[in-house]
Order: sequence, then C-alpha cells, then structure tokens
Amino acid sequence: MSHPVLTALGLTELESGTYVGSGEWSSTRDAGVIESISPTDGALLARVQASSQDDYDTIVERAQAAFKVWRTVPAPRRGEAIRLCSDALRRNKDALGTLVALEMGKSKAEGDGEVQEMIDIGDFSVGLSRQLYGLTMHSERPGHRMYEQWHPIGIVGIISAFNFPVAVWAWNAFVAAICGDISIWKPSPKTPLSAIASMKICNEALKTGGFPDIFFLFNDAGSDLAQSFVDDRRIPLISFTGSTKVGRMVGERVARRMGRSLLELGGNNAIIVDPSAELKLAIPAIVFGAVGTAGQRCTTTRRLFVHETIYDDVLAKLVTAYKQVEGKIGDPTDPANLMGPLNSRDAVQAYLDAIARAKAQGGTVVSGGSALDRPGNFVLPALVTGLTNDAEVVQTETFAPILYVMKYSTLDEAIELQNAVPQGLSSSIFTTNLKAAEQFLSAWGSDCGIANVNIGTSGAEIGGAFGGEKETGGGRESGSDAWRAYMRRQTNTINYSDSMPLAQGIKFDL
Ligand code: UN1
Repeated sequence: MSHPVLTALGLTELESGTYVGSGEWSSTRDAGVIESISPTDGALLARVQASSQDDYDTIVERAQAAFKVWRTVPAPRRGEAIRLCSDALRRNKDALGTLVALEMGKSKAEGDGEVQEMIDIGDFSVGLSRQLYGLTMHSERPGHRMYEQWHPIGIVGIISAFNFPVAVWAWNAFVAAICGDISIWKPSPKTPLSAIASMKICNEALKTGGFPDIFFLFNDAGSDLAQSFVDDRRIPLISFTGSTKVGRMVGERVARRMGRSLLELGGNNAIIVDPSAELKLAIPAIVFGAVGTAGQRCTTTRRLFVHETIYDDVLAKLVTAYKQVEGKIGDPTDPANLMGPLNSRDAVQAYLDAIARAKAQGGTVVSGGSALDRPGNFVLPALVTGLTNDAEVVQTETFAPILYVMKYSTLDEAIELQNAVPQGLSSSIFTTNLKAAEQFLSAWGSDCGIANVNIGTSGAEIGGAFGGEKETGGGRESGSDAWRAYMRRQTNTINYSDSMPLAQGIKFDL
C-alpha cells in the first residue's frame, strides 16, 4: 500500500524514471529498477524504472530541438514559464515537503523549507528574466560602439545529490530556463521519487501555460548513463553537486572535452565563538548547523572553535542542548521531530567509522556517538572534544551529525585553523566585537565562499551566490550573478564610421 503522500502527488508504486518530453514518460522496462527505500523504517516506498541508453539519446535529441525554439523566446516570457512553476510549487509545498522528508529523511520543517527554496529561486528567476544585463564599453576607436551580450549556452546537465533532492535542481533548472537553456536532470538514485514529483508538478504547470518542454529527467540504475552524460559534447555545461571524490572526476572529464562544469562539492565548515559572543544566539545556531538534516548538508557545521575562556561554558550548554535533541529524533514526517534518520545504512556505517577513528586519534565523545537500536538509520548526534584540527578525522567530511569542538586562544589562530582544511564552503563567527567580525570577513580572514557573522554555517538564502573554494569546487549557483555560468558572453564591436581604424593604433596601409 503506497504512502498517502505518493497518491496525493500522483505517484504510483511503479514509476517511469524518464521524462522524454511532450508529456510522455518512457515505457522502458529493461534498464533496471531503482528502489526508493524509506530511511525511517527501511520500507519500500516505490520502484522506479531506470532509463535506457535509447531513452538518454531521445532526451538529448529532444532537448537539442527544444533549445532551438526556447532560445528565440524573449527572456521575460521565459520568466513567465517559471512563474507558473513557482505558483504550482506553492500549491504543492506541503505534499512535496512531506515526500522529501519521507524519502530523504530530513525533518518535515526542513522538507518544506527545501520546497520554499524552490519557490524562492523561482520568484528570483522571474525577476532575473528582465535583468540579464551586459556591459557597454567605450571603444578606443572613433565611430565605434562596443558592448557585450549574454546568450543561452544550450543544454545544461544537472546531477544532484540525495541531501537536497529538489532544491538544487530548481536552483539550476529555473535559472538556466530564464537564460534560454534546456536542462536535463539526473537525480540521486536514493531520491528518485522526489525528482519525479517535482518534474510532474513543473511540467504540468508549463503545459497549462502552453509552454514547450524545457526540463527533462533520466534516472540511471548504475553509472553508465551518468558517465555518457558527463562526456557528452552536446552538453556544454554540467552542474554537479556531490562528493569531492566524484566531483573531481566530473571536473576532469568535462574539462577534457573543453566543456564547462559548475561544481558544488564537500564542505568542512567551522564556527568560531569569540569571548564577546552572545551565547543565546550562538548555541541554537551551532546546534542547528551541526544536527539539522542529521548533519547531511554540505554546509553542516563540522568544526567548532571556542575561545579558551568560555570553552567549558559553551561545551556544557551544547551537551544540554544535544540531550534535548535526543528526545526529538524520529519519524521525519512527524513535525514534532527535529532530527530524522541518516539517508542510508552506508551513512550509518560512515558515522560509526568516524566515531571509532576519532577515539583512536585521541578524541573523547562527550555526547552521542552510537546508532539507535531501532529500525531505520537513526544515530545520536555526536560532540567530540580533545582532537586537534589536523587530526585525519577532523580534516575529513563525514556526512553525519558529528561536531569536533576545539579550543583557541587568539583570533589569528582561530582563523588560521578554520582555513586549514582542504574544503572552503561555509564559515561563521559569533562575536559582538566589530574588529573581530571585520577581520574574519577581510581578505586575510575566512577563505570560504560563504562567511557569516552571528549566523550559522548552513541555511543560506537563495539570493546570494552559493558555493565555495578549494576542494568545494569553485562553482557558484543560485542568486547574485550566478546566472552568468548558464550563458555565453559575446563581445560585440560595431563600426559606424566611414573609416577602418585598427585597434592599438596599428597602421596597415594598403
Ligand atoms: C547542500 O547541502 O547541498 O545553505 C545545499 C544551505 C542550503 C543549501 C545546502 N540552502 O544549507
């Protein structure tokens, strides 16, 4: 018997995982089956027919044909299509948020929050569709005009991760759509239903407005199609969200064919708590940052640097707060719970391995540290002390709720430690000291793509550019001018004079 939210969203127990356009879902039945398993109790939620090589080729050909039409549609009109999508997502927020909670395992509030991010980036894209600005330059030659314009790039390939099964697609697909691109989505095999539901909602909305296909979807049972996707010269941009290990392969392969990639990879995000910090702000931010989404955000707080004079106090407050969270771990679709399960058995094993390594490397687990003895992938959020920043386990991103708490004595030292990891996504300082805040944000402060003051590391708003440096991959998506990654820039110089002067004053008299 299927879960009521699947029925509410029009999903059946056996779904096609391939949207091939023109309102059709592929009838392929021999490319494997992906099982969507509830991380809460291990139950089978539904099965998804994976896509075949033929399906993939059909999608790319249809996307190429769609691009020829879509690139001629005025950008503000393209925005109108996305407005319909965000309206439809508003209507379906409760159901889709529940499905995300059910299939991924994040809390209902966070599932709804993820759908809210889709709505927000939709609204942002509608406005952006009238603001794809290029610059005008002064030509050095008389009677010449020079400017730049931004054209659609073509097909955008989106590979998303299980932890944000719907919002990351929307960040990419909605912005790409108003830029005039067609997108093809390969979601995580762990969350195919959330992807199918999102496609159904948005494609239905596009149909009611008489818009053509701009979004396609395939689901790969293994990794063959994903590899063809990454190597496919017909796809000028691959936007990949996932681990640094896989992202490195994607980046290298796309670069080999001179394609573009937008990489959103791992984080190892830290919060610094200085002696002037307001702990009533810092403690909830740390706990949400470390425990929210059961530690499975790329922006999750994994390291905490506390000034030595307040260390004992902060640690005691965190232990108390963690005990409160422990009472609210359970079914993520129950709005009373703050923390759901990890997404898979493998994730539980990775958590247990990291705890064992932390102990072996000299750490002390002061809260949590074990899996819960009940069905599903539940673990206790862990606080670990006594390790230094250079410990192997601290340097490594484990996608689980483990927070390494460390002491520091000077701000220079804290900033140096916070930067001393391979990743560079998000960072925060809690302080009421203006000089400390400004130093943290300065060119010699945090080296991350995101640096916050008196706000935690996770839960970024869509309006800013999202992404990070170093092994986080360097990509930026979502707000600000991240749209430029989805377009090609063209510099145009026009001569409206009666002579033919060359640039740089070169004389070439015939
Ligand atoms: C991710 O974990 O892949 O800033 C994205 C945040 C969210 C996005 C996280 N807005 O935590």
